Amino acid sequence: MCGIVGAVTSRQAQAILLAGLHRLEYRGYDSAGMAIVGENGIERRRTVGNVQELDDALMAAPLAGVTGIAHTRWATHGVPAVSNAHPHVAGDGRIALVHNGIIENYERLREELKQGGCRFESDTDSEVIAHLLDECLRRNPEMELRDAVREAARRLEGAFALAVISANDPSRIVAMRVGSPLVVGLGIGENFVASDVPALRPVTDRFLILEEGDLVELTAAGITVWDFQDETAVRTTLRITTDTGDADRGNYRHYMHKEIHEQPQTVRDALEGRVGRARVLEPAFGVNASAVLDGTRAVTIAACGTSYYTGCVARYWIEELAGIPCNVEIASEFRYRKFVVPDGSLFVTISQSGETADTLAALRIAQETGFEHSLTLCNVPVSSLVRESELAFMLHAGTEVAVASTKATTAQFVALMLLTILLARRAGLTAEREAELVAALRQLPEVVAQALALEPRIRALAEQFMDCHHALFLGRGLQYPVALEGALKLKEISYIHAEGYPAGELKHGPLALVDDDMPVVAVAPGNELVEKVRANLEEVRSRSGRLYVFADADSGIVEGEGVTVVEVPRVHELLAPIVYTIPLQLLAYHTAVLKGTDADRPRNLAKSVTVE
Ligand code: G6P
Repeated sequence: MCGIVGAVTSRQAQAILLAGLHRLEYRGYDSAGMAIVGENGIERRRTVGNVQELDDALMAAPLAGVTGIAHTRWATHGVPAVSNAHPHVAGDGRIALVHNGIIENYERLREELKQGGCRFESDTDSEVIAHLLDECLRRNPEMELRDAVREAARRLEGAFALAVISANDPSRIVAMRVGSPLVVGLGIGENFVASDVPALRPVTDRFLILEEGDLVELTAAGITVWDFQDETAVRTTLRITTDTGDADRGNYRHYMHKEIHEQPQTVRDALEGRVGRARVLEPAFGVNASAVLDGTRAVTIAACGTSYYTGCVARYWIEELAGIPCNVEIASEFRYRKFVVPDGSLFVTISQSGETADTLAALRIAQETGFEHSLTLCNVPVSSLVRESELAFMLHAGTEVAVASTKATTAQFVALMLLTILLARRAGLTAEREAELVAALRQLPEVVAQALALEPRIRALAEQFMDCHHALFLGRGLQYPVALEGALKLKEISYIHAEGYPAGELKHGPLALVDDDMPVVAVAPGNELVEKVRANLEEVRSRSGRLYVFADADSGIVEGEGVTVVEVPRVHELLAPIVYTIPLQLLAYHTAVLKGTDADRPRNLAKSVTVE
């Protein structure tokens, strides 16, 4: 997705900015650009395609100057084109701006600005900000750039991170973040700003992480931060010496363990820039998302493995909130069967790798057989699924190394809930209900962190699983796919045979297996189905089964002879699958560690299954 780099230094800024852009390439983008303020004012270069194209353009015609901003753009408003690439300029080229995020009220602002005589060069929401700034500065030529940014920002709704330069003052960059990430890099006699740390690692290891609503002014000599109330603020400085960030195992014994623990942050990252104060920001799903979603009357999801199970949860969400049919298919089955395409069908693929052969084949078949539109929810921007789908939503979970997916899974859940809300909005979801869901999503990183705090308890439980040969996982409703995923995780990495079942199916088969050797795991938040689940658990208990129940305080399920209860933090009922997935990941992980299997690279399995 979009990336920002800015530098104010005493050496030529171009090389620093280009190196930063190259390091942001992993996020995915479709065009790139740079503006530098030099002796002749602001000059810029913009290209469509790889950063290398920009590199070549700059090689042919370099930009001279010590202060500049640069950007990689992932189209949300307006197609990938040079005219839509950042930086955007205003005021006869006296201001240049780069922006990440989405401005929700840009159409209204654009109309107002047009009526005031403003001419737009692009179809982007971002250009509106440049013109707003220019308007402020025209009205009050004495105004400081930072005050203009503050004033313009007051009129913006949505999520944004931005960096601005002005020909009137080549010695500074003003940047601000509201709902999109931004970090400041501290140098000696130079300072930098970027949308994430890796972009600046070649030039510094000292970072200042800006907080929500912070405005910052950078000169080569120093930086000043103002908080949301316009008071000067002090932010702590961090030393970050790792280079590759998420591909580094750090102090963890396994990548899987590290990736499980990254989930508060990856859930936050999946949301960042995609939700406003009380709404999901629609263009997060791409330039044509609104038109595609307007025409969507049915959804078919195709995926494999864990991604298939996240899709199974989305079926409950979409049918309940949006009231349209949602069909979830195992990609390897879908590709070889005859199917009916419901009118107005959106074909959704879910994939951490973006290269799973069966999922890719399913997409291609869907495109040939009358599905009108396609969307992929994917963690790898430069992947086949992203390239071949009409719309793409990047999960932003960072590199996932362990074969068994964890942080990409929870990011998939977030993406699917955002999609559900957008579809539900068209089916009459009220603004209040949407605000309630957005608030619950915003709290999710905190609840995920609380779920991770259950680790010592779960590590101890794993000792009771390590010698088992079989395990049964039960859930109902939204928790049924969670049970399937819990069983998959355990079997993948600890090689214990595990099966997930809807709890109501117990007496149609699996109950025959229950004895005092068979651990039965149940996921049972205190929702409307909990009484039914309790009845199912009684069936297990009365056959001397060993029950391990993951439940919240509302479930009314209590520990007793043969029943172990792990209390999971309370969360909005619809988001419970995301939170209950976490302890099951930990259970699988610690069981594998105790058994001595390779949690990161389980035998016979691959991270990216590119063959049928
Ligand atoms: C493999 C991986 C799983 C993953 C599945 C689907 O089996 O080991 O972790 O869930 O493929 O992969 P995808 O990349 O399409 O999500």
